[in-house]
Amino acid sequence: MVYIFSVLLSQRPPDRIHRNMNIYKATRANIGFAADIIREGGIVSFPTETVYGLGADIFNPEAVVKIFAAKERPFFDPLIAHIAEPEGLHDLTELHPAMVSRLAEKFWPGPLTMVLPKKSSVPDIATSGLPTVAVRMPDHPVARELIRVSGTAIAAPSANPFGYLSPTSAEHVERYLGDRIPMIIDGGTCTVGVESTIIKVEEGRTILLRPGGIAIEDIETVTGPLVHETNDTNNPEAPGQLPWHYSPEKRLQIVPDINDLTTIENDAAFLLYKKKSPAILRNVPEAHIALLSESGDLAEAAANIFAKLHYLDRLPVKTIYAEAVPEEGLGRAIMDRLLKASKKYQSGE
Ligand code: TXA
Ligand code: MG
Repeated sequence: MVYIFSVLLSQRPPDRIHRNMNIYKATRANIGFAADIIREGGIVSFPTETVYGLGADIFNPEAVVKIFAAKERPFFDPLIAHIAEPEGLHDLTELHPAMVSRLAEKFWPGPLTMVLPKKSSVPDIATSGLPTVAVRMPDHPVARELIRVSGTAIAAPSANPFGYLSPTSAEHVERYLGDRIPMIIDGGTCTVGVESTIIKVEEGRTILLRPGGIAIEDIETVTGPLVHETNDTNNPEAPGQLPWHYSPEKRLQIVPDINDLTTIENDAAFLLYKKKSPAILRNVPEAHIALLSESGDLAEAAANIFAKLHYLDRLPVKTIYAEAVPEEGLGRAIMDRLLKASKKYQSGE
């Protein structure tokens, strides 16, 4: 900590984006500077194509603890290891069923995370004591450059306080964790916008643990039918998949179609799936209505989901009504996030 402060004070790079904020442009110099922090056992936030991550050297348990502390994340929720090249798998995992290479070839770099038997050199703190480690190779030049220059695999969950909405811009990270992180690298808005799809690859079968940025249908073209284990209980296979993950502070209620609402409160906001102007919203201020995709494109809707929820969550309203999206392709990941956001209140959290 002392080291990080002294470094930041003495060598603060010139191209910090805002005064009084920890957001830095993704220049080569700044990425090198972030890599120094990682190598010295610190944490930094960096962009990926899915959401912003909060990273540390996975092989340094004391550094990994800092991630849990900054996020107030329970230690039973394991992290994802990020690698720059497929070869990085060999430092982390023991067994490579042939399926792993086929999946890596088709989907890496990209939003696919594979859970595999871990090497004993991977600290238990990063995997919550599980015998497996989750690995992904992100499709973002800044993330991969950071991993490469750091010379290690980077353990990184999403850079949000535990249980809250994931960040898809550097400003989201700054707003919620800015005072706890020495450096946030700005790589623009995340293009995929929902977290990676997580699968567990075993001999003979592949299990879906979390729907995400790669459609299940696409993965199944390689694996055949996935075994579904995404039930939103405290499933020990996916300890992070608590029923109330990804929650805004406001109450969120899913409605199949905004047109189905017959009465609405005055202090409500609305998240529409696609462009429509229902009579029920006639007197609602325009600023209280957000749209996921003009044309109903699910990839565009996924890219917008967290940014729109962050926006609506800051309005002076009590309830956010979110319209359901079709449960196909990336629509499954969107519905998974909306369902979990809505459960926080159903379960009295
Ligand atoms: O797109 C993403 O996956 C983003 C970016 C930053 O890469 N990361 C992300 O991490 O979403 P996080 O921490 O929010 O979600 C990681 C989840 C855990 O909550 C857990 O459900 C699952 O990955 N996971 C990690 N290791 C696992 C393991 N060994 N077995 C089963 N599930 C695991
Ligand atoms: Mg997360």
